[in-house]
Amino acid sequence: MELGYHFLTIHILLCLSSITPLAGEVTTSKTDVSALLSFKSQISSDPFGVLSSWNESLHHCQWQGILCGKHHPDRVTALVLDSKQLTGSISPFLANLTFLQRISLPDNQFQGSIPVELGHLGRIRFLNLSMNFLEGSIPSTLGNCSSLQVIELFNNNLHGTIPPNLVQCKNLTKIDIESNFLTGGIPPEFGHFPLLRLLGLSENNLTGTIPFTLGNLSSLDNNIWGEIPQSVYNISAIVYLVLGDNRLHGTLPIDMCGPFSNLQHLYMYDNQLSGRIPPSISNCSGLIDLELSNNSFNGIIPSTIGLLEKLQTLTLGYNKLTANKPQDWKFLDALNNCTSLQLLQLSHNQLQGVLPGSIANLSTSLMKLSVGGNLISGSIPKMLGKLTNLDTLFLNDMLLNGSIPEEIGNLFRLELLDLKKPERNPQTDSERALKFESRLVSYHDLLKATENFSSENLIGRGAFGAVYKAVMSFENVTTVAVKVLNLETHGASRSFLSECEVLRNVRHRNLIKVLSSCSSIDQHGNDFKALVIEFMPNGSLETWLHPNTNSNLDLPVRSLNLIEMLRIAIDVATALDYLHYHGPAPIVHCDLKPSNVLLDDDMTAHVGDFGLARFLEPPDIQLFESLTSTTGIKGSIGYIPPEYGVGGRPSMEGDVYSYGILLLEMFTGLSPTDEKLRDGTSLHKHVEMAFPEQVMDIIDTRLEANLYASKNVFGCLLSVVQCGLSCSKNSPKERITIEEVVKQLNSALKKLLT
Ligand SMILES: *[C@@H]1O[C@H](CO)[C@@H](O)[C@H](O)[C@H]1NC(C)=O
Ligand SMILES: *[C@@H]1O[C@H](CO)[C@@H](O)[C@H](O)[C@H]1NC(C)=O
Ligand SMILES: *[C@@H]1O[C@H](CO)[C@@H](O)[C@H](O)[C@H]1NC(C)=O
Ligand SMILES: *[C@@H]1O[C@H](CO)[C@@H](O)[C@H](O)[C@H]1NC(C)=O
Ligand SMILES: *[C@@H]1O[C@H](CO)[C@@H](O)[C@H](O)[C@H]1NC(C)=O
Ligand SMILES: *[C@@H]1O[C@H](CO)[C@@H](O)[C@H](O)[C@H]1NC(C)=O
Ligand SMILES: *[C@@H]1O[C@H](CO)[C@@H](O)[C@H](O)[C@H]1NC(C)=O
Ligand SMILES: *[C@@H]1O[C@H](CO)[C@@H](O)[C@H](O)[C@H]1NC(C)=O
Ligand SMILES: *[C@@H]1O[C@H](CO)[C@@H](O)[C@H](O)[C@H]1NC(C)=O
Ligand SMILES: *[C@@H]1O[C@H](CO)[C@@H](O)[C@H](O)[C@H]1NC(C)=O
Ligand SMILES: *[C@@H]1O[C@H](CO)[C@@H](O)[C@H](O)[C@H]1NC(C)=O
Ligand SMILES: *[C@@H]1O[C@H](CO)[C@@H](O)[C@H](O)[C@H]1NC(C)=O
Repeated sequence: MELGYHFLTIHILLCLSSITPLAGEVTTSKTDVSALLSFKSQISSDPFGVLSSWNESLHHCQWQGILCGKHHPDRVTALVLDSKQLTGSISPFLANLTFLQRISLPDNQFQGSIPVELGHLGRIRFLNLSMNFLEGSIPSTLGNCSSLQVIELFNNNLHGTIPPNLVQCKNLTKIDIESNFLTGGIPPEFGHFPLLRLLGLSENNLTGTIPFTLGNLSSLDNNIWGEIPQSVYNISAIVYLVLGDNRLHGTLPIDMCGPFSNLQHLYMYDNQLSGRIPPSISNCSGLIDLELSNNSFNGIIPSTIGLLEKLQTLTLGYNKLTANKPQDWKFLDALNNCTSLQLLQLSHNQLQGVLPGSIANLSTSLMKLSVGGNLISGSIPKMLGKLTNLDTLFLNDMLLNGSIPEEIGNLFRLELLDLKKPERNPQTDSERALKFESRLVSYHDLLKATENFSSENLIGRGAFGAVYKAVMSFENVTTVAVKVLNLETHGASRSFLSECEVLRNVRHRNLIKVLSSCSSIDQHGNDFKALVIEFMPNGSLETWLHPNTNSNLDLPVRSLNLIEMLRIAIDVATALDYLHYHGPAPIVHCDLKPSNVLLDDDMTAHVGDFGLARFLEPPDIQLFESLTSTTGIKGSIGYIPPEYGVGGRPSMEGDVYSYGILLLEMFTGLSPTDEKLRDGTSLHKHVEMAFPEQVMDIIDTRLEANLYASKNVFGCLLSVVQCGLSCSKNSPKERITIEEVVKQLNSALKKLLT
C-alpha cells in the first residue's frame, strides 16, 4: 500500500512540469526518499536488479548505490551506480537531494538530457555521467554548483556549446567532455580556473580560436604573429590539455606559457591552427608531449624548443613550417639538449636545404624519426647510424641523392625505413601509416579501441594487470592486445619499465612484439601505463593444456597434436636461446610458464610477459639498478628453480629449469601444481620414476590419438622427456643449456617426421 501511494505521488508530480524546490526551503529525509523513488521510476531496464533493494522494507541509506552523511545520517550524500547497465532518463528530482555531493552514473545507458535542475545542487562535488547516451546540451545551470570539483561527461551525444559560466566553479580540477558533438568555441573564461589540472575537449567539433594563455599574459602589444588574447588568463595548475581533433583555428598566443606553467601534455593535433609556434613555448618547461601536427603552423621552428628538456614526443608534421637558410635549422641543434626525446616528427612541412649532420646528435633514446615530405636535398647523413635506438625512420618523398650509407646498417632495431622517392598519388597508404607513426598511443585511443576496457574484451589477467583485445591499426594489423598495468600492485611500475626495456631491445619471431606503449594519465588524473602488443588469436598455451581456464577467445575445441606440441616446445626454446645468447645483451626471462607462451594464428609460439626479466649484463647501469633493487618473487610457483628460493640470482640455468618443467607439463598434461602431485612428489620426480620403461604411461592421453602417425613416436617421446628431465635437475650445474635443448628437440622432431 505504502509503495503504491508513493508511485502515485510520483506520477502526479511528474505530470506537473517545472516543479522545483524553492531556495532555502526546508527539505527532509522524506524529500530524499521521494526523490530517489522518482529516480527509480525513470529507469526502464535494470538487468542486475540493483534497484530492487530500493523499497520501503529497507532504510533508504541502505539502498544499493546510496550513501548518507556523517552529520546528517538520514540525508543522501552520494548516488553511485557505475556500470550497472541501467537504461532510462535522469530524473530532474535528483535536484531535491539537497545534501548530495556525488553523482556517479557512468557507463550505463542513460538517455535524454542532463536535467537543468541539477544546478540546484549546491553541495555537489563530483558529477560523472560519462559513457552514456545523453543528448541535449550541457546545462549552463551547472555553473551554479560552486562546489564542483570534477565534471566528467565524456563519450555521450551532447550537442551545443560549452557553457562559459562553468568558470564560476572555482574548485574544478577536471573537466572531461571529450568525444561528444560539441560545437562553438572554447569559452575565454576557461582561462580562469585556478585549480584545473585536466581539460579534455578532444574529439568534438569545436571551432574558433584557442582563447587563452597558459600562464599569465605580460604584454598586450599587438604583434605580427597572431591575435591578442581577449583577456588576461591564468591556468597555472593545468597539466593535461587535450584539444586534438577539433576544428579550432587562429593562432597560439605569443605569450602562451607564463612562468608558473605546469603543463606537461599538450595535444592540439588535427586542428586548423595557424601562425608561428611562439618561442615562449620554452616557458612551458615541464612539457613531455607536444603535439601540434596537422595544422597550418608556419614560419620557422623556434630554437627555444630545445629548452624543453623533458620532451619525449614532439610532433610538428603536416604543417607549413619553413627552413630556408642554414640558421633556420638551429632548432635541430637545440633539440640535441632534449635527452629524453623518443619521437620526433617533422614530416610534410616546407623545410629546405641539406639535412644538418647535427641530426645525428639527437638523443640516443630517439625511437621514431620522421622527416619525409620536405624539400630536403643532398645525401643522407652517415652519422644517423649513431641513433642506435631508432626503430622507425622516414626519409621518404624528398630530393635526397647518393647511396644509403652503410652506417644505417648499425641501426639494428630498425623495423621501418622509408626512402621512397616522391611520386604523390598524394593520398597513399604510406601516408596514412605515417600519420599513425606520428604519435604514441594516447589513453583515449586505448579507451576507444577496447570499448572502454569492457569485460568482453578482457582476454587475460595477471599479477601486474589485465590484457584486453583492441581494434586498432598498426602497420598491417588491425587487432592488437593492450596490456594495462595495475599500478597499485607493488612492483608494477618496475615491471612495466622492465618489460618496455626488454622489448625495446629484442626482436625475434618467437617473442611477442611490442607495437607501442602508453604512459599517460587517465581521466581521474592517475598514472596509466599500458603496452600495445601483438594480438595472438590462439591464446596462451595454458588454455590449450588446461582448457577449463576461462577465456574470452573462441578457441577450437580440440587438443594439440604431438607435432604441434613439439613445434611449440622448439619455438619456446628458440626464444630463450635468442634471449640468452643471441640478443643485444644476455637476458633471462625469469617467469616462463604456459600462460606466458602465446600462440598466433598458425600456432607459432611467442614468449611474452617480460615483467620479471633481467639483463645479465646491463646496457644501462641505472636501469639495471632499478630493476634489481628488490629481490622479491622471481617467478611463478611450480616453475621457480630451487636455487632462487635460497637467494640465488636470476640466471640462464634458472630459465632452463622453468623450461624443463614446462616441457614435462606439455607432454604429461600435468601442471606442476596439480593435485595428483600433492603427496610430496614433484613433476620432475613423477616423470623420472616412469623413465624410461613406463614413459608411455605418463604421456598425456590427449596426445595419444596422434601417436600412430609415425613408428618413431616412442623414440621421439623418450628424447623429449629426457630433455625435460635434464633441464629440471635440482642442481643448476647439471642442467643442460638451452642451446643443447634446441638441438635435441629439433632432432626429436626430425625423427618423428622421417
Ligand atoms: C521535490 O521538492 C519539491 C519542493 O520541496 C517538492 O514539492 C516535490 O514533491 C519534490 N519532488 C520529489 C519527487 O521528491
Ligand atoms: C526489498 O529489498 C530487499 C533487499 O534487497 C529484498 O530482500 C526485498 O525482497 C525487497 N522487497 C520488495 C517488496 O521488493
Ligand atoms: C567517472 O566515470 C569513469 C568511467 O566509469 C570512471 O572511470 C571514473 O572513475 C569516474 N570519475 C570519478 C571522479 O569518479
Ligand atoms: C542557483 O543556486 C541558488 C541557491 O543554491 C538557487 O536559488 C538558484 O535557483 C540556482 N539557480 C539555478 C539556475 O539553478
Ligand atoms: C573550494 O575548496 C576549498 C578548499 O578545499 C574549500 O575551502 C571551499 O569551501 C571550496 N569552495 C566551495 C564553493 O565549495
Ligand atoms: C562538424 O562540423 C562540420 C562542419 O560544419 C559538419 O559538417 C559536421 O556535421 C559536424 N559534425 C558533428 C558531429 O556535429
Ligand atoms: C603574472 O603572474 C605573476 C604571479 O601571479 C604576477 O607576479 C605578475 O605580475 C603577473 N604578470 C602580469 C603581467 O600580470
Ligand atoms: C595567476 O594565478 C596566480 C595564482 O593563482 C594568481 O596569484 C594571480 O593573480 C593570477 N594572475 C592573473 C593575471 O590572473
Ligand atoms: C588532419 O586532420 C583532419 C581533421 O582535422 C583529418 O581529417 C585529416 O585526415 C588529418 N590529416 C592527416 C594527414 O593527419
Ligand atoms: C618566459 O617568461 C618570462 C617571464 O614571463 C619572459 O621574460 C621570457 O621572455 C619568456 N621566455 C620566452 C622565450 O619568451
Ligand atoms: C643546451 O643546454 C645547455 C644547458 O642547459 C644550455 O646552456 C644550452 O644553451 C643549450 N643549447 C641549446 C642549443 O639550446
Ligand atoms: C605484417 O608484416 C610483417 C612484415 O611484412 C609480417 O612478417 C607479418 O606476418 C605481417 N602480419 C600480419 C598479421 O599480416
